[in-house]
Amino acid sequence: MPVSAPAVDSSAALSSSLRRYAEVRARSLALAAPLSAEDQCVQSMPDASPTKWHLAHTTWFFEAMVLVPHARDYRPFDARFFYLFNSYYEALGPRHPRAMRGLLTRPSVDEVLAYRAHVDAAMLGFMRGCGEDRQAAVLPLITLGLHHEQQHQELLLTDVLHALSCNPMLPAYQSSDVPLLRLATSPASASWLPHAERIVEIGHGDDSFAFDNETPRHRRLLPAFEIADRLVTCGEYAQFIADGGYRRPELWLSDGWAAVQGQGWQSPIYWFPAADARVQAHQLAKSGTADWYVFGLNGLQPLDPSAAVTQLSFFEASAYAEWSGARLPTEFEWEAAFDTPGMRQMDGTAWQWTRSAYDPYPGFRPLAGMAGEYNGKFMVGQLILRGSSLATPPGHARRSYRNFFPPAARWQFSGIRLARDL
Ligand code: AVJ
Ligand code: FE
Repeated sequence: MPVSAPAVDSSAALSSSLRRYAEVRARSLALAAPLSAEDQCVQSMPDASPTKWHLAHTTWFFEAMVLVPHARDYRPFDARFFYLFNSYYEALGPRHPRAMRGLLTRPSVDEVLAYRAHVDAAMLGFMRGCGEDRQAAVLPLITLGLHHEQQHQELLLTDVLHALSCNPMLPAYQSSDVPLLRLATSPASASWLPHAERIVEIGHGDDSFAFDNETPRHRRLLPAFEIADRLVTCGEYAQFIADGGYRRPELWLSDGWAAVQGQGWQSPIYWFPAADARVQAHQLAKSGTADWYVFGLNGLQPLDPSAAVTQLSFFEASAYAEWSGARLPTEFEWEAAFDTPGMRQMDGTAWQWTRSAYDPYPGFRPLAGMAGEYNGKFMVGQLILRGSSLATPPGHARRSYRNFFPPAARWQFSGIRLARDL
């Protein structure tokens, strides 16, 4: 609402920001808690960052976006951290190269935790003393910082999972009795839910928080289509592999086939055949009879045929869709189907690759100031994923949420929902 808010509302907004700040910041520490200092330092590939770096970068975001520009008497914990923990903000100066984040044996985990405590104390003091006049400028940045930290909470998990997958012992992030980390199972059979041709409203349209890339809300014409009511399962994906899915170029986009050949892809990144030496060495092999074992946050487990398949690239999702005589939905079809009756697994299981390029919506304007670098400049060469995954913080995503990754990325909790023309 663009009207001036009464004092009681503004203090309510402030206290809800304070409460959310404490909750989100604490959750990052809880996610890092099962990990040793060694776990938290490694970088297993340029795309993945060390846990310690995630914990520091999310802290830097509040320092750079809120404290330095807005808190007059703020004293940085360590001025060198501005270089170390800036991710990609050109407006904020040069930074440590992304691919070398794993070389940061200093600061130690303990020093990063002290950095977090320093910034938390400064943020809480600043928020409590923030007059009504400044809140309008500052609270949206704090909200952005909290949604940013939630995005990094998922990245922390996907990145450490990749690091652990590179260890032949295949250690579990955490034991399997944690419900958050279990793969949701799917109903046995999938149904197609039809949609007649129509014009739909796409994008974020109310006063609640959304990233700039979900706006502006606009209209799209959707030709008639049908969409699956659930995600593709590991059992179905195993049939694709058994049918020569990774050996048949006609199923693949050209860049996808180049990845299959160039990287030697034969299965999803965390699928291990029973004959693999790492599986054999693993205790599970003694009792197991499965053809495939799947590595996840709860360690190496026999493939569960009814679980949603995850950790797929767009190329793999596209080849599977081709093999099954279907296609991936557009992000607009996905959004239109979101709350129609019968749809299952739309969120909380796996991000769903769409056939839509990460393009600006008509009339898109990035946020003003340095936050303008957050999303808009990445709008080329990436594909949209919709929904959310079991690693997404509860309440973080929404119907209009646009996640995005390059088509070869396959270390996220990314799976397949099929669609067909009608
Ligand atoms: C939306 C997950 C692709 O990984 O860079 C983190 C999230 N943006 N910090 C990314 C993000 C700024 C983003 N993804
Ligand atoms: Fe970031």
